[in-house]
Amino acid sequence: MTVVFAFLCLLLLPVIAEDSTRGGTRRRNDFVVNVDAFGAVGDGVADDTQAFLGAWQQACSSPKSVFLVPEGQRYRVNATKFVGPCTDTIVIQIDGTVVAPDDPQSWDPRDQRAWLAFHNLSMAAFQGNGVIDGSGSKWWAASCKKNKTNPCRAAPTAFTIESSSSIRVKGLTIQNGQQINFAVSRSDSVRVTGLKVTSPEDSPNTDGIHISESTKVLLQNCKIGTGDDCISIVSASSSIRMKNIYCGPGHGISIGSIGKNNSTGRVEKGGSGFVRSVRYQRVTMENVSNPIIIDQFYCDSPTACQNQTSAVEISRIMFQDITGTSRTKEAIKFACSDTVPCTDIYLKDINLQGEDAKVETFCNSVSGSQLGFVQPSAECLSASNSSTTTIREGEEVWATENHLSTIISDEEPPGFTNS
Ligand SMILES: *[C@@H]1O[C@H](CO)[C@@H](O)[C@H](O)[C@H]1NC(C)=O
Ligand SMILES: *[C@@H]1O[C@H](CO)[C@@H](O)[C@H](O)[C@H]1NC(C)=O
Ligand SMILES: *[C@@H]1O[C@H](CO)[C@@H](O)[C@H](O)[C@H]1NC(C)=O
Ligand SMILES: *[C@@H]1O[C@H](CO)[C@@H](O)[C@H](O)[C@H]1NC(C)=O
Ligand SMILES: *[C@@H]1O[C@H](CO)[C@@H](O)[C@H](O)[C@H]1NC(C)=O
Ligand SMILES: *[C@@H]1O[C@H](CO)[C@@H](O)[C@H](O)[C@H]1NC(C)=O
Ligand SMILES: *[C@@H]1O[C@H](CO)[C@@H](O)[C@H](O)[C@H]1NC(C)=O
Ligand SMILES: *[C@@H]1O[C@H](CO)[C@@H](O)[C@H](O)[C@H]1NC(C)=O
Repeated sequence: MTVVFAFLCLLLLPVIAEDSTRGGTRRRNDFVVNVDAFGAVGDGVADDTQAFLGAWQQACSSPKSVFLVPEGQRYRVNATKFVGPCTDTIVIQIDGTVVAPDDPQSWDPRDQRAWLAFHNLSMAAFQGNGVIDGSGSKWWAASCKKNKTNPCRAAPTAFTIESSSSIRVKGLTIQNGQQINFAVSRSDSVRVTGLKVTSPEDSPNTDGIHISESTKVLLQNCKIGTGDDCISIVSASSSIRMKNIYCGPGHGISIGSIGKNNSTGRVEKGGSGFVRSVRYQRVTMENVSNPIIIDQFYCDSPTACQNQTSAVEISRIMFQDITGTSRTKEAIKFACSDTVPCTDIYLKDINLQGEDAKVETFCNSVSGSQLGFVQPSAECLSASNSSTTTIREGEEVWATENHLSTIISDEEPPGFTNS
């Protein structure tokens, strides 16, 4: 009898201690679900995958919850899908470090596309001072770009937000991605502020932020230094706005690259689709390859790519207030296909200098115009055709401002609490 009673007490104690809620505590109006309460060890060695999944299930099915990764700890988590929809708004508070297992051999060979992937969420906020670390070094060494004898295989994207809407990401650090560091895919209304992304300059295909099939995305006050594109935007994306971005080292801000199929596993070769209404504003580049690049021919596969028969249709792109240094001669490169020209491409107040040599602008099959001071000059933009609309100084180019106002405003989206 005593034994049974003691056993019951043991079962009940943690529940009472945690404010009559299973595996969580209530803080103000939020229901906080700490991964530690689900058995996470946080020593960087133990496998904390199950604890994260358990905590996710609890948090996602509770109203006004906070999924908490506490600070000062290092949690090792396998490739995991965190799937919504959740009952209510959810805050993913990452204050500690989440690390991936570093050995590619230990990954499930059937699913090597993503490490931490959040699917089908609505009204979710990712925030905190924590670090998401893909531990990518062994993946980089196994890349065919590092060693031609290696087979070309896609490596995981470290952090993915997919098929989601009304998402806020604030303040996190994402580093050492196995391949792409942060992907926003098939999502709308995504606001990313104060994000830091770092991967070594010689790590292959480690794009900073990769946006595909998404609309209404705002990136603001981000610092990105990787081995590949700072920010890349591909098929079926529109109303993207970037403001106060620092890029370097790495490549520039790229639009429409195709033929990355085997390396980043994201874009179909010869993939069709569109990218439109994108505005870059106040971007600083330091020692970056092709700081501004639109490339419909881009192909980094080890075997030669065929010329594309169809390409991503690219229009209404504004580059404004872009300054810094280019590592390559072509500081600005618009390589558009003859079958699908790029239209309405605008440059305004650009100052890109070479590290030591003169830099230039390359144009193929592109139309648009330049305003204000543009260095290197891009006469080739307006020269290629005069049929498209020209804009005057000070004129707003397109109406994405309105569409974006909801995510651009400094007010927090409804339902979110600051912490
Ligand atoms: C995504 O969530 C919506 C509800 O928000 C649901 O109807 C749909 O089935 C979910 N899709 C997937 C693939 O889980
Ligand atoms: C995490 O990966 C390791 C190595 O493959 C495996 O032994 C372990 O079972 C995985 N954990 C979970 C919860 O699947
Ligand atoms: C490339 O990989 C092969 C086979 O794994 C290995 O023998 C060779 O030493 C590697 N080369 C370099 C430069 O690392
Ligand atoms: C891409 O990978 C596939 C297998 O995934 C392979 O058959 C194909 O030859 C590769 N293409 C290139 C251009 O490397
Ligand atoms: C590359 O694209 C082709 C079709 O476009 C697809 O069948 C193949 O699975 C892709 N390969 C990789 C590695 O993503
Ligand atoms: C720019 O990058 C190149 C290649 O990594 C490097 O050799 C050079 O020193 C860098 N220049 C500056 C000014 O950082
Ligand atoms: C592909 O098209 C480009 C631009 O028109 C041309 O310079 C290049 O030679 C072509 N490549 C092949 C393999 O046809
Ligand atoms: C430029 O105009 C010519 C003739 O009007 C047209 O055939 C061509 O496709 C246009 N090129 C671009 C880049 O718009």
